[in-house]
Formats: sequence, C-alpha cells, structure tokens
Amino acid sequence: MFVQIEITTVCNFHCFYCAGRDMPARSMEMELFDALLFGLPEGRHTISLQGEGEPLAHPRFWEMLERVRFSGHRPYLITNASLHTTPRLAQYVPMIGVSLDTLDSDEAERIGRIGLDRVLANLEKLLVLAGPDRLIVHSVDYGQDRKPLDAYLRKCGVTRRVVQPLQRKGDYRRRYTEKIEAAPMPASPAPCAYLLQPRLRYFNIEGIKMPCCYIKDASRYVSESGLLADFALGGVPAACAGCCEVNSGAP
Ligand SMILES: C[S@@+](CC[C@H](N)C(=O)[O-])C[C@H]1O[C@@H](n2cnc3c(N)ncnc32)[C@H](O)[C@@H]1O
Ligand code: SF4
Ligand code: SF4
Repeated sequence: MFVQIEITTVCNFHCFYCAGRDMPARSMEMELFDALLFGLPEGRHTISLQGEGEPLAHPRFWEMLERVRFSGHRPYLITNASLHTTPRLAQYVPMIGVSLDTLDSDEAERIGRIGLDRVLANLEKLLVLAGPDRLIVHSVDYGQDRKPLDAYLRKCGVTRRVVQPLQRKGDYRRRYTEKIEAAPMPASPAPCAYLLQPRLRYFNIEGIKMPCCYIKDASRYVSESGLLADFALGGVPAACAGCCEVNSGAP
C-alpha cells in the first residue's frame, strides 16, 4: 500500500500552482503522526512523507523518518531540494523524489521555485551520494520549454521522471484559473480507480484519511462510502468536482 502523510503545509517556496499556499501553514504533531503510522494495517508499506508543504521544513522530520524506518516501512518523499544539509537523506531514503521544473534561474524565481543554484547544488550532491538510479525527478508541465532540463537530466544519468500536467481540479485551479480549463465532467459519472480499488491512503495535515491526494478542501469530504454513494446516485461528489480521475475505475 502507498501511504502518504501530509506532515507539514509549511514551505519556503511559493510555487504559483501550489494549493498548499492557500492553506494555513502548520506542522503535524508527533502524537498524531505516531497514531497514523502505528495504526496502519499489517504489512510493509511505502510511506511518503509529504503533502502540500516541504517535508524537510518539518522541525521533527528526521525523527519521523527514523520512526518510519524502524517500523519496517519504506520511506519516500518529494522535496524541493532546497533544505538538505546532511547526507542522511541518501542514507535513509531508498528512492528520493526531487522537484525541478526548469533550468532557467529567472523562470524558477518567477514560478516560485526560488534559489535554483542551491537546488541544483543539492541535486548534484544527491547524485553523488545516492546515485541517479535512486532519484525520481518530478516536474510540473505548465507549458515551459523542458528540453534543457531533460537534456541536463539525461547527462546526469537520471532516467526516472514524473512529468505531471497542471492539476485541473478546482481545488488547485483557483490559483491559476486563467491558465487552464477545468476538466469536463463525463455525462455518466462513475467512481475512480482510487475508490474502486483502494491503493492509496492519504492522511492530510489533520490526520483525515482519504482515498487520494487530490481533495484539498477537506470540508467537502465525509467518507469514501459517502463519495461512492454520490456516484451511485449519478452525480459527482462535491469533493471530486473537476477531478480528471472521475470514471477512471470503469472497465
Ligand atoms: C506539493 S509538492 C510537495 C513536496 C515538495 N514541496 C516539492 O515541491 O517537491 C509535491 C509535488 O506536487 C507537485 N505539484 C504541486 N502542485 C501541483 C499542481 N497544481 N499540479 C501538478 N503538480 C503539482 C509539485 O511540483 C511536486 O512535485
Ligand atoms: S515547493 Fe512544493 S510545497 Fe512548496 S510551494 Fe512548491 S509545490 Fe508547494
Ligand atoms: S474522483 Fe478524484 S478526487 Fe474523487 S476520490 Fe477519485 S481521485 Fe480522489
């Protein structure tokens, strides 16, 4: 099972597309983190320590990482790569996600991924300490020219890439309404793959468990069975409005 825990909504960047920048900035208490981690079903899970904030900005990030390791799970995270100061990440995290959208410093400043030189220096440290096969570079495709970045990553030996289009769900889109249309909702809405075959557990900063990481306005969310009931009545649940995953569970 892939389990994602939003340990913080605090961030030192201000990416224009980030839903977290409209959330109160706070970090999860260790008591809640422990309750979530030690309350998971039996098994060895991948635990991704990240939501709409920078995981390394959590003041107790390293203790959380230790707990994940000692409870026998596989830790994962995606980082903006601005705050690494020790080799511990490479020592303790088998696969490390790093976000990088552009190699152009001015463009990086413009979109809110500030201090590109430091990010690249940290990425290069990780390349030496962990090796390119343990890095996954995540990019948001918002229409920028990604060729220089792709060429640089090839030169570095990084082959694991995740390129995501800007999310079209309203929870995200309100930050960039003018740039992108909402996803059209199908005429006969049906549940997504996340609801039909639970494969992910997302715990938001308050510890609320959800079937996916796309519901940012938790006030619209009641339960998985509530979402399924709305779909069964032929509608799209308010929490899912605009999500590209609606109908993804259809055979
Ligand atoms: C929310 S961030 C949290 C981790 C860390 N702060 C970082 O930026 O890597 C996780 C990933 O989601 C991506 N992301 C954030 N907002 C997005 C959006 N509106 N559309 C697509 N991807 C987005 C980020 O670029 C990053 O790769
Ligand atoms: S670095 Fe990550 S959490 Fe921070 S603003 Fe950018 S996407 Fe959001
Ligand atoms: S439709 Fe989208 S928002 Fe709703 S549960 Fe599925 S993935 Fe999450």
